Amino acid sequence: MSLKGRDILSMRDLSRPEILEILKASRALIPVAEGRRPSRALEGRLLSLAFFEPSTRTRLSFETAAKRLGARTITIVDPAASSMAKGESLSDTVRMLSCYADLIVLRHPNEGASRLAAQLSDKPVINAGDGAGQHPTQTLLDLATMEERFQTLAGLRVVLMGDLRYGRTVHSLAHALGLFGSELTLSSPERLSLPEEVRRDLDQMGAKVTEQPDLEKALRGADVLYVTRIQKERFGDLAEYAKVSGSYRLDPALLRNMKEKFAVMHPLPRVAEIPPEVDRSPHAVYFRQAFLAVPVRMALLSLILTGRVPPGGGR
Ligand code: NCD
Repeated sequence: MSLKGRDILSMRDLSRPEILEILKASRALIPVAEGRRPSRALEGRLLSLAFFEPSTRTRLSFETAAKRLGARTITIVDPAASSMAKGESLSDTVRMLSCYADLIVLRHPNEGASRLAAQLSDKPVINAGDGAGQHPTQTLLDLATMEERFQTLAGLRVVLMGDLRYGRTVHSLAHALGLFGSELTLSSPERLSLPEEVRRDLDQMGAKVTEQPDLEKALRGADVLYVTRIQKERFGDLAEYAKVSGSYRLDPALLRNMKEKFAVMHPLPRVAEIPPEVDRSPHAVYFRQAFLAVPVRMALLSLILTGRVPPGGGR
């Protein structure tokens, strides 16, 4: 099935072949993402970037991806400066955006916000994070990072560490890794464990999942450690946050005996869970991961807006 005109709301919207198609297209687009090859493949297209929650990488990489392909963008970055501050509903805002632009990228604090938006919009909607729900395009770039490192996605041993309860990036990633037959180890404080419905989804897929709160043990034989920040903004009660704040931090000594290709990943922003000295380690790939956001989002935008990827990356 073609991706043309499709909404991307959750990783469940994409099949394995579709994911592989996006990753292949993104590899071809790396020279365009690096600015070495110009492209006007999306010239004349207008994208709406509607961000009702803080964002650095996601918004700027979507914007970079669009502009490097010749498209233009209109942006909401500060809800206080839009008519939502006057009491306009998300539904009405989305209806407007779908009149103006060819595609809507939406980040919103409410889980399910992008599904609602997709029902109201006759233009494709991409979920750039809905509360503690899903963040499918982050998963695509996470997979691109793993594929670049290991030349395959099959059968990787991945440790998911940190705030698995509220971290939407791990909710999307866990599903995708289940699709590719990864062995998953969940390493989190008990209060931050993976939500029941995500766990059930993995069980239904027949994914291999174990829990190991002791990171040193969890890392035995691992290919990837995927670290997440405690999602402070999702805690209704700051006293609950205080109970888990600072409860985990990657000890650089643990990286000493890992396999050569072992990769430490993080969707970023990091707060204190990865100390800066890890940045110098050959295992640290989180800044490469942040760069790969651009070609991956280029590939996705091209496939959704035109149904194809510009030949050889450019035009
Ligand atoms: C993540 C997010 O917004 O869910 N950031 C991102 O998009 N790279 C992770 C986070 O905020 O911790």
